[in-house]
Amino acid sequence: MSKILSMRNFRTSTLGAALLLVTAYASPSFAAGEAVEIPRQEWTFSGMTGYFDKAQLRRGYQVYQNVCAVCHGMRQLYYRNLSEPGGPEFSDARVKDIASQAQVTDGPDDNGEMFTRSGTPADKFVLPYPNEKAAAAAMGGAVPPDLSLMAKARAPAHAHAWYTEPYFWMVDIVTGYQEGGADYLYALLTGYADEPPAGIDVLPGLYYNEAFPGHQIAMPSPLADGFITYEDGTEETVANYSKDVTAFMMWAAEPKLEERKKMGLTVMIYLGIFAILMYLSKRALWRKVPH
Ligand code: HEC
Repeated sequence: MSKILSMRNFRTSTLGAALLLVTAYASPSFAAGEAVEIPRQEWTFSGMTGYFDKAQLRRGYQVYQNVCAVCHGMRQLYYRNLSEPGGPEFSDARVKDIASQAQVTDGPDDNGEMFTRSGTPADKFVLPYPNEKAAAAAMGGAVPPDLSLMAKARAPAHAHAWYTEPYFWMVDIVTGYQEGGADYLYALLTGYADEPPAGIDVLPGLYYNEAFPGHQIAMPSPLADGFITYEDGTEETVANYSKDVTAFMMWAAEPKLEERKKMGLTVMIYLGIFAILMYLSKRALWRKVPH
């Protein structure tokens, strides 16, 4: 009897705890605050058959190198990564050329001195500042964050609360929506306004941005139409620059994305065929057995 009672108690308390959790979550204080609606973009790397558009990654690198690299490092990348399969796939000669334009600090030499030499494909991307203090000093206190993992480090708050609009969440789960970071980065780069909306005072040294949480960011608008010359005829607009550099950041954050998606799809097809075979053999085996 006491056993049954304690079992019942256990059940009741578990149920109680679960209910409490759900209500706590569903209460408005847990809701996403002033989440900005981040529009979703079309990306070649979304979905089960996602892949990187190599030409886009090459353009994206160009944008990073010519604009963003003045302030932001990408410390996880080596120049050689730029020619590896699944990435921008620059030719080896081009990567050698790109790397050779970088000034790498090396050493110490036989006299114990550090020295600079031109880069090779085996070198890491050269960082714009030797350390965060130097970056902060140069940027008036704001440190430009490293961009290697940025596409994974940011995701917009879901614009739809799961307890009022569960449909949106389920679609995202089923379709495997993983482009939140990319959508946010695109919105950030295209989110500068010439004038902040009436009634908003932007603090000195900050800039109004539609997508940035709080809307005031220490990064000045980095792009402008026609800023960078594209070699492949793609239109030179802020929208295209932003899209391309975002794709590049996505690749940097997940260089094996293509491999992962291909493997996933193969496994799903394999399991599908396997399931059919299992079903057929089950039927064949049990056919003569009365059941
Ligand atoms: C003049 C220097 C400068 C340039 C050029 C620049 N940035 Fe920034 N960036 C910053 C600073 C400073 C911050 C930190 C802003 C803050 O925390 O308010 C920042 C922040 C960011 C963030 C983080 C935003 C967040 O959600 O926290 C991203 C992403 C970013 N920059 C991307 C880029 C890209 C992509 C480019 C090139 C197209 C670029 N930046 C060019 C200075 C720069």
